[in-house]
Amino acid sequence: MARTILVVDDEESILQSLNGILSDEGFEVICAGSGIEALERIEEIIPDLVLLDIWMPDMDGVETLVKIKENYPMVQVLMMSGHGTIETAVRATKLGAYDFIEKPLSLEKVLLSINNALEFYRLEEEVNLLKAKDRDKYRITGTSRAIREVREQIKIVAPTNAWVLISGENGTGKELVARTIHGMSKRSHKPMIEVNCAAIPEELIESELFGHEKGAFTGAASMKKGKFDLAHEGTLFLDEIGDMSLKAQSKTLRILQEQRFERVGGSRTIHVDVRVIAATNKDLEAEIEKGTFRDDLYFRLNVIPIRVPPLRERVEDIPELINEFLLEISVSTNLDQKEFSEESIELLKRYHWPGNVRELKNLVERMVIMTPDTVIGAKHIPPPYNLESSLKDDLESSLMAGSYKEAKARFEKAFIEKKLREFKGNISQTAEAIGIERSNLHKKIKAYGLNNVKG
Ligand SMILES: Nc1ncnc2c1ncn2[C@@H]1O[C@H](COP(=O)(O)OP(=O)(O)OP(=O)(O)O)[C@@H](O)[C@H]1O
Ligand SMILES: [Mg+2]
Repeated sequence: MARTILVVDDEESILQSLNGILSDEGFEVICAGSGIEALERIEEIIPDLVLLDIWMPDMDGVETLVKIKENYPMVQVLMMSGHGTIETAVRATKLGAYDFIEKPLSLEKVLLSINNALEFYRLEEEVNLLKAKDRDKYRITGTSRAIREVREQIKIVAPTNAWVLISGENGTGKELVARTIHGMSKRSHKPMIEVNCAAIPEELIESELFGHEKGAFTGAASMKKGKFDLAHEGTLFLDEIGDMSLKAQSKTLRILQEQRFERVGGSRTIHVDVRVIAATNKDLEAEIEKGTFRDDLYFRLNVIPIRVPPLRERVEDIPELINEFLLEISVSTNLDQKEFSEESIELLKRYHWPGNVRELKNLVERMVIMTPDTVIGAKHIPPPYNLESSLKDDLESSLMAGSYKEAKARFEKAFIEKKLREFKGNISQTAEAIGIERSNLHKKIKAYGLNNVKG
């Protein structure tokens, strides 16, 4: 794929001639007339290289350089210095510019510097790849059998190019799994580009995924790369894939099959090499039944399925997760690390965690802030996490009910919940113990929303 160069100069004639020359050499060229415009373009297209004029009104080249390096350290910058700005150019190389070229520009010198810079960029990428290999940045904490299996699967699929579909409830760690796979893959020196399918309005999905050419529609003042482009040689993470509209699904399927596409308003075919990892909290097979998800897209994506289990199926991981989060908090706040008492941990293990690991992480943060003591005990844990006291609350509230019917219902709910927990969610055993029909208990569990109570 063509390398992208962003040329920044306030002189229109320079932009035009460089655009012509570099396009002829096979580069994709984008122009910007000021430092501010350059920063906007960079965000949209992430070029491989920037040719940056030093003397410009408003924001000068050096200031622009500093901002670019701050946000995109991997993008190579070549300064163009006019008469009297050589000293500044030398200073710019100390601030991260790769090199500088003197004006008036000589064609040979420009091309030579560009090729050197791009070669340097490639080598730097390789070094980063080596570093990434032994980095352990994304830690999937836990020693339960369920989470060990997930880690095993990641280890096997990561180095391959296979597509992965990650499923699991909210907050189970789907994104963490996706990042770990990318981080352990051969593509880790390139970015993982994330697309939140639920957040993109239907009419923007094409331009968002495939980009658009300049003038494609009103308001498209310049070319914009799509997510597929940006993920070239890297990974595309399609998050919340179950929320994509049917129309967007069919477009995505086509690109996924062909690995090439045209930008909106363009006729050039762009080839990309992208690995796709998708995630969903929906049951896609059920969505297919309902007719809201395409089965062909499902089969294409679901080459390797990874299911991240809900936290209530691996409560033995809770102590380790709590410690991990406590450590993170103490490092980021520079305060002494607090701890949870054994009793409080036992309480948390009995909760059913509908928001999974994210909910646990939020609770740990909240407890660290709210508890003045170094040891967080059972008495500090608020309802609904504190089962005993939340049961007490339920009972008290049944006494406060306005009608007999209401009071009975509140009491019944608290009672059934307590008994279900005693029998670890086993309906037959609970029904027998409290002396009602199994089918009757089943109805009540449904009516009171106690389906997730597991003990
Ligand atoms: N096994 C784990 N070890 C350490 N941290 C974890 C683990 N699982 C999840 N987390 C943390 O919990 C939070 C939620 O995880 P993540 O965003 O990956 O979940 P998700 O499944 O993508 O959630 P959602 O469905 O809401 O998008 C993150 O802060 C993540 O770092
Ligand atoms: Mg997520």
